[in-house]
Amino acid sequence: MLDNLEALKKSFDETGYQLSGHGPRNVKVLKQAFQEIDEDTKSDIYGSGAAIGDFEDKMANFLGKEKAVFFPSGTMAQQIALRIWCDEKGSAKVAYHPLSHLEIHEEDGLKKLHGIETVLLTERDNVIQPEDVKAMDKDVSCVLLELPQREIGGQLPRFETLQAISDYCRANDIRLHLDGARILETLPFYQKSIEEICELFDSVYMSMYKGIGGIAGAVLAGGEEFIRQSKVWKKRHGGDLISLYPYIFTADYYFEMRKGKMEEYYESAKELAARYNSCTGISTLPEVPVSNMFHVHINKPTDEAAQVLAAVQQESGIGLTGYVREVDQNKCYYEVSMGDFYTTAPQEKIELAFQLLDKKMRTLPFSN
Ligand SMILES: Cc1ncc(COP(=O)(O)O)c(C=O)c1O
Repeated sequence: MLDNLEALKKSFDETGYQLSGHGPRNVKVLKQAFQEIDEDTKSDIYGSGAAIGDFEDKMANFLGKEKAVFFPSGTMAQQIALRIWCDEKGSAKVAYHPLSHLEIHEEDGLKKLHGIETVLLTERDNVIQPEDVKAMDKDVSCVLLELPQREIGGQLPRFETLQAISDYCRANDIRLHLDGARILETLPFYQKSIEEICELFDSVYMSMYKGIGGIAGAVLAGGEEFIRQSKVWKKRHGGDLISLYPYIFTADYYFEMRKGKMEEYYESAKELAARYNSCTGISTLPEVPVSNMFHVHINKPTDEAAQVLAAVQQESGIGLTGYVREVDQNKCYYEVSMGDFYTTAPQEKIELAFQLLDKKMRTLPFSN
């Protein structure tokens, strides 16, 4: 007998249309990217060769930085970026949001591998403000800003806030690093170019598998000397795989395919969030999304919410989510990230799914 969470996952997997993401993460993702690539194209070898170098140059240019380096993961790239800035200042201290990826998803890599102390700026539910940065010790070597702040639904500070933080850091000998795992996804909201945003930061990381939808991989960009040192650390971390081209060619393929689609994802996030917000006992964070992502909060215990969602998915054929996470005994939530999949679902089916969701939420306690 499946429990409610397992049943939710199963019902999601069985739906014909899923409203978030780009589609299944299967071998086709790799095959499609390689279809047009000449079989004689040479591999990169330990970080050199055109297969990696051309893409790094292209991304440096795109982000408006002198140089860039391709990493197998953002986790590796960012720990290294922060290590370099700490060494430069001679102070092993960095500051970031309490729900930063480095703080909650990396098993303390920064602390255990690099002995770097962390200062947590602001409260968990807020985005970082200039006052938070001004209040911290000046011996902090680097401030990391994550845009959008994923764990609070992908919220964003205003562009003027970013500018103020950047000005303060520059005036006080503090480096500013961008955790831009989803930075392209913020451009429609900011109405700025990628260069205008990256210009505020000394170093920038961008993921190649989130909104872009590649297999894995990250680009770290910055000044020439910073990137020279990043390459040394990449080798030390075992990140200089003999060949990274399967990741690089797919990253490049999906980057070209999707870099111009962020506006579409942003508009569909706003549309879908409005549908959720029209349902009883459900709200989104933020209420109006500022990127392609948001969180769905349900005012019901996890088990009840899972039952409702599974029933909606079974009856409508529309996949809303494969999981829910408990907030407290009476509330739970899940994350939604919009991609290519949304537009494949027929509008009348989506309509039906949200009518069912509202109805079932109204008529709880739920019985099957
Ligand atoms: C905001 C943010 N930063 C960094 C990372 C790390 O990326 P990777 O999975 O490539 O190590 C992630 C991954 O989810 C992320 O969401």
